[in-house]
Amino acid sequence: MPDPTSATNHSDDSRSEHLHDPATIRIRRADFDDPQDVATVRGLVQGFADVSKVTLPPSVQDAVAPFLGRRAAFVLLAEDVGQDGGAKKPEAVAMLIAQRILSSFQAGERINIHDLYVIPKAQGRGIGRRMLSVCADHARALGCSDLTLEVTGDNAPARSLYRTFGFDIPEGDVPAGAVLYGKCPLG
Ligand SMILES: CC(C)(COP(=O)(O)OP(=O)(O)OC[C@H]1O[C@@H](n2cnc3c(N)ncnc32)[C@H](O)[C@@H]1OP(=O)(O)O)[C@@H](O)C(=O)NCCC(=O)NCCS
Repeated sequence: MPDPTSATNHSDDSRSEHLHDPATIRIRRADFDDPQDVATVRGLVQGFADVSKVTLPPSVQDAVAPFLGRRAAFVLLAEDVGQDGGAKKPEAVAMLIAQRILSSFQAGERINIHDLYVIPKAQGRGIGRRMLSVCADHARALGCSDLTLEVTGDNAPARSLYRTFGFDIPEGDVPAGAVLYGKCPLG
């Protein structure tokens, strides 16, 4: 598996202005008893919806964090704690929402990654890869056999991330509108 802390510069102009130093990024589980985390998850879920040009109604924005807190789910947050180690309020830069699902053939559980979102100005700094790595650690700790996810065929950055992380996501062209299913065994 590639070094999860590595940050490679891509030539993509949309990611050319990076404002977040990977060294000051911390990843932890969201605490749904903490109103600040509830507000952070609310904002990041809408940020992720923005990628698909979807505006969530206020009622859904209000409900999503409490809903996730009640499910067999965990949410990882990546925050930039800054050079002073967190004296200032950390800035949330990424979110990963995962849920426990069944594997009948293994009489066990696996972890399905439902959403992964890195805010635009923090992309291309290895944060997405680190989120997957931390998710895999949580999944192993829960005794899960593998990670699963779905990704649209036209999402080249995500497909590349997942494939190079270890998911069996194919390279190359797929039919328009295809949604690809990927599985990554946990060693
Ligand atoms: C997809 C996404 C999560 C990647 O997160 P990220 O932090 O920018 O990715 P990383 O910096 O960790 O990059 C890891 C790998 O992803 C791939 N990748 C990331 N951005 C890429 C881009 N613009 N073009 C091609 N490959 C890219 C590369 O394989 C990269 O590995 P490398 O740096 O060794 O070449 C992020 O772009 C994102 O949140 N996009 C919008 C929401 C989304 O599409 N989520 C996924 C839904 S399934």
